[in-house]
Amino acid sequence: MLKETLEYLNIHEGEWFVDCNLGGGGHTEGILKAGGNVLGVDLDPDAIKEVSKNLKEYIDKHRLILKQTNFVNIDSAVAEAVLTMKQFNNETIAISGVLFDLGVSTHQLEETERGFSFNKDAPLDMRMDPSKGASAKDLVNGLYEKELAELFLKLGEENWSKPIAKKIVQYRERKQIETTNELASIILSVRRRSPSDRTHPATRIFQALRIAVNDELNSLKGALPNAFEVLKPGGRIVVISFHSLEDRIVKQYFNSLCHPELVSESSTEFKNTEAWKMPKQVRHDKPLAKLITDKPFETTEEEANWNPRSRSAKLRVIEKL
Ligand SMILES: C[S@@+](CC[C@H](N)C(=O)[O-])C[C@H]1O[C@@H](n2cnc3c(N)ncnc32)[C@H](O)[C@@H]1O
Repeated sequence: MLKETLEYLNIHEGEWFVDCNLGGGGHTEGILKAGGNVLGVDLDPDAIKEVSKNLKEYIDKHRLILKQTNFVNIDSAVAEAVLTMKQFNNETIAISGVLFDLGVSTHQLEETERGFSFNKDAPLDMRMDPSKGASAKDLVNGLYEKELAELFLKLGEENWSKPIAKKIVQYRERKQIETTNELASIILSVRRRSPSDRTHPATRIFQALRIAVNDELNSLKGALPNAFEVLKPGGRIVVISFHSLEDRIVKQYFNSLCHPELVSESSTEFKNTEAWKMPKQVRHDKPLAKLITDKPFETTEEEANWNPRSRSAKLRVIEKL
């Protein structure tokens, strides 16, 4: 979706964009080549290291600034970038677009040691920032059976959540679960792979753990209002999401900005009180943004054939009024 993403960002020479999911730097490079400047953010120190090497020429020209942080902190990352550029050329920068390309990068899936993939045996980790927080190993060995089942159901939408949680707890009475292979074989002992399965039976459980370990939904819920805040009028937010839980958050937040008349006071989705809360809503009567994509843009059959990951991608765009 690189081409469409760049078109939706509506890039003009010299404008500044925030790439909230730097990853391998593909989108960032596209923006830079189209004439834009980028503040690139990623939780993963490997992504920052790799891109600072590969796109060094743009850093040297003060067209690319990199920051290792959670994208929920986009406001402070932008404030820092503004200061840096002010010191460099005494100009204040404004943000013309913010891009989210959510989820896990190819590098993270392929780097065995990171423990994101059930196809490679590795310590069960899954932290995007390996220096912080609980790992997947801590969760599978530390949560109660009921908590595990709830996590697999809510974040993986896994129908077999209860028997899988039960099996995990039985297994760990004998020994701790240490590796991706160990967890995948526990899952397979409950849910055999049938020839009609399009995906591996461990897919949803691994997804649920990754989302929980990195607190992905709450980060997104916090980041969207912050991204809207830093955007200049006329600027755009483009979000590419890969599963329904993320897409639902994006859709509801965008609708709340573009169709405030549809957000009722009593709508539970917009109350900030429960664990799976929506982004904080500021009550407003007039639209603050317009929807550029009425329906999400989805990948073409052609792209899905050479890039299977893109099959589940949904791209949504708003423009700040
Ligand atoms: C799908 S990849 C991005 C690929 C990138 N757009 C490219 O063109 O190569 C997602 C990246 O987002 C990062 N990420 C995920 N959640 C994040 C968060 N809350 N804050 C910052 N980075 C995050 C991951 O570490 C990963 O590198």
